[in-house]
Amino acid sequence: PKNLPLKGKKVVVTAGPTRERIDPVRYISNFSSGKMGYSMAEAAASLGAETILISGPVSLDKPAGVKVVNVESAADMFEAVRAEYEDATIVIKSAAVADYRPAEIHTQKIKKSDDDSVIELARTTDILQTLGEWKEDQILVGFAAETENVIENGKGKLQRKNLDFIIVNDVTDPGGGFGSDTNVVTLISENGTYHPYSSMPKKELATVLLQAIVQEEGLDTNND
Ligand code: PMT
Repeated sequence: PKNLPLKGKKVVVTAGPTRERIDPVRYISNFSSGKMGYSMAEAAASLGAETILISGPVSLDKPAGVKVVNVESAADMFEAVRAEYEDATIVIKSAAVADYRPAEIHTQKIKKSDDDSVIELARTTDILQTLGEWKEDQILVGFAAETENVIENGKGKLQRKNLDFIIVNDVTDPGGGFGSDTNVVTLISENGTYHPYSSMPKKELATVLLQAIVQEEGLDTNND
């Protein structure tokens, strides 16, 4: 049916920040609240999809009709996404994955001294880039959190990571970004189409974005 275009299809969404442990009591993270990703998962479920939400640590309620897999670090998120990737129709990477983790996780709490201190960082795996390399017929949707040259930087990520769509947000825009209930984004497709959206609630925006993706991919017409 037209109102459930994702019925029988599996959608995987990632949301929230990751936490990279320094020692038993400290970690490195970012300001993602998970609101954008949880809204995307809720929208996918409401369009009929079997929805898997892979979530970093957030304080949001589990959306109705969605299977939630809780993870902590970028490495955990990578494993969880990998396990769900092969038979997914759409994968949406809303999570703000840490690009770096402490090179070493101390097993005991690091003691303070009067000296300054340095934490050595190592790169995490770029999950989305890896999914792009493995892509068969999955529709791969990334987000780009930018603070300058928003469109060009977003398009660069779309191409580099072999995506079908990228949802670009200027995270300095007062109408959106990390933590807020609203967002301002542009949806860019690999075919070169642009859909700029003005500030709207993340919940509403999520449905608008998914419907645009469904339409561009023709998923609304090949369903009986
Ligand atoms: O959670 P909220 O408070 O609602 O905020 C929403 C948001 C601003 C976090 C969201 O809209 C958003 O932009 N998410 C992506 C944040 C991000 O990490 O962007 P990026 O430009 O650094 O990364 C680009 C893409 O690569 C993202 O899809 C990201 O999930 C992915 N990535 C990045 C690094 C990494 N190691 N692995 C990845 O898969």
